[in-house]
Amino acid sequence: MSTRSESAREGVEKVPVELGDRSYDILIGEGLIGRAGELIGPLLARPRALIVTDSNVADVHLPVLERALAESEIAFDAFVVPPGEHTKDFSHLEQLSQRLLQASLDRRSMLIALGGGVIGDLAGFAAAVLLRGIDFIQIPTTLLAQVDSSVGGKTAIDMPQGKNLVGAFHQPRLVLADTATLATLPRRQRLAGYAETVKYGLLGDLEFFHWLETHGTAVVEGDAAAIRHAVATACRAKAAIVARDETEHGERALLNLGHTFGHALEIELGYSEELLHGEAVALGMTLAFELSAQLGVCAAAESDRVRRHIGAMGLPTGFADLGGRVFDPARLVSHMRRDKKAEAGQLVFILARAIGEAFVARDVEAAEVERLLTESLAETLPPAGSLAGL
Ligand code: NAD
Ligand code: GLY
Repeated sequence: MSTRSESAREGVEKVPVELGDRSYDILIGEGLIGRAGELIGPLLARPRALIVTDSNVADVHLPVLERALAESEIAFDAFVVPPGEHTKDFSHLEQLSQRLLQASLDRRSMLIALGGGVIGDLAGFAAAVLLRGIDFIQIPTTLLAQVDSSVGGKTAIDMPQGKNLVGAFHQPRLVLADTATLATLPRRQRLAGYAETVKYGLLGDLEFFHWLETHGTAVVEGDAAAIRHAVATACRAKAAIVARDETEHGERALLNLGHTFGHALEIELGYSEELLHGEAVALGMTLAFELSAQLGVCAAAESDRVRRHIGAMGLPTGFADLGGRVFDPARLVSHMRRDKKAEAGQLVFILARAIGEAFVARDVEAAEVERLLTESLAETLPPAGSLAGL
């Protein structure tokens, strides 16, 4: 592996995740997949790996990874699954398990997750449970996965009852965030990942939020230096939180800013392509700041600034941005009560005192949330009287 000064010269940022004997590095830069053999090789007890990826990613990035592993004489198989959230299920976990056992991989072998959050969560969970746990490496290829899901060891599959309900904490041995892969990612997906990027500014880093107000467009449009800075800043923030609270007994919950609202919307829309996870989080973060302002813990000017930036980037900030869909506030609140973060039916929200100052609130009244949702939804309706004469 390159030394720190060599890495800096090559334009690669290294962010350590400090977890004792389970510590690992996140490397961030362009072209890392082409160096995967050299970077992964020293971590292998046996030069044998199973790559897990989806068909979209396989088309554009698998050949480079295969070549890099072959050059380092690492034997591999590739397991390609269909793209999309529905792949994060028991049936694909079973198929992946069969494939791993057929390929005679053992506890000293390595799983490599090449793809977005769906692949990282599925492959990571397989690595957590197969043979009572094998090593795995994350090679995230979406912005969302580079700034969030590949770091911190949360792995899971979905159940009919909800998302991520069967899972484990299992840390990767290495994260290779090859920022050049984002060039092939559809713009809508980059924007959805941007929502999880801005989250770090909103929850704990005003300076980063300020930087994003100026450079956010460069990040989404693919400027290499801007992407590397944004991914590295996000990863440093997440690494610090995970090092202090790996299994979410405290401050890790702050990473769920916007998610209580967002998950309720995703459930309502059946986790369809109609609303991507990052888009739901963008709207959720706007609502979380508006709820904070409504409850008097945050100035309205702060919540307006959040809405302005998220909206200027082209992400949804209100129900009017959801294509005329009608939602029932009481139903949304009932989804929130069943969220796995809810405690005995009590709503748990991440609120903020200001941009960069988020906190966990366990005492929010459902009536306050319903009032906010009702008022936000009212903005989507035509003004009274406007239908007169139709
Ligand atoms: P995803 O993995 O479904 O990827 C989005 C789409 O982009 C897919 O169609 C994929 O095939 C395609 N794609 C990926 N990389 C590409 C590339 N470089 N070029 C072209 N196409 C590419 O979705 P996602 O947004 O990355 O992740 C969402 C998932 O992450 C959800 O399941 C969510 O629950 C999970 N998640 C997990 C954590 C965690 O901490 N484990 C955190 C946040 C989200
Ligand atoms: N994405 C939330 C977490 O990793 O805790």
